[in-house]
Amino acid sequence: MAAAFKPLPPGWRFYYLLHPSITVVLGTLCPNGRPNFMPASWNVPVSEEPPTVAVAVDRESYTFECLEHLGEATINVPSHDQVDKVYALGTVSGRDVDKVKEFSIRLEESEKIKPPRWAETIGVIEGRVYQKVDVGEVRLYVFEALGVYAREGLYTKWGWDFRRTNVLLHGAGRTFFLVGRMLRARV
Ligand SMILES: Cc1cc2nc3c(=O)[nH]c(=O)nc-3n(C[C@H](O)[C@H](O)[C@H](O)COP(=O)(O)O)c2cc1C
Repeated sequence: MAAAFKPLPPGWRFYYLLHPSITVVLGTLCPNGRPNFMPASWNVPVSEEPPTVAVAVDRESYTFECLEHLGEATINVPSHDQVDKVYALGTVSGRDVDKVKEFSIRLEESEKIKPPRWAETIGVIEGRVYQKVDVGEVRLYVFEALGVYAREGLYTKWGWDFRRTNVLLHGAGRTFFLVGRMLRARV
């Protein structure tokens, strides 16, 4: 017989039940006039019509301030080989550091919004804030996807071509996972 469910011990984080979670990097344009980039693994598609994506942003982050300043962001999808830079972008604040300079982030102009894209990533959604709701310490931003772009050759009608690239699934702290085996449900 399978072992019984047990409640998590005190101090263990409930949300790891829902990890690993794909990591995106939010690109914003800030009150100081500079672009800023922050990794966010608490993100999810919300609706198809209109196409929306929700991202939970800590109200103490500089990204929060930047989103309140200009309600637009690029939702950049980094590949697995960008792991070090993605993690590093989450260890400092754009309030203290010009992350674009510090981490040599190559910028590319967006087509529909003002904040730039991170040029080296494999995909990007250009989003405008559609709705927001405060929950605990975060503001959950629902972005309408105004433009959606993927790197040629890495994307198919069914999503990323994992024979050619991979994404960063955030586990805990500095640990990430890759997408591994494919399973198909029987009909
Ligand atoms: C892999 C990873 C995922 C993260 N996910 C989120 C997230 O979903 N929401 C959030 O508010 N912060 C998240 N963080 C923390 C922010 O990225 C971090 O606080 C960052 O330094 C904020 O930068 P800023 O002050 O320039 O906005 C994450 C950090 C890492 C490393």
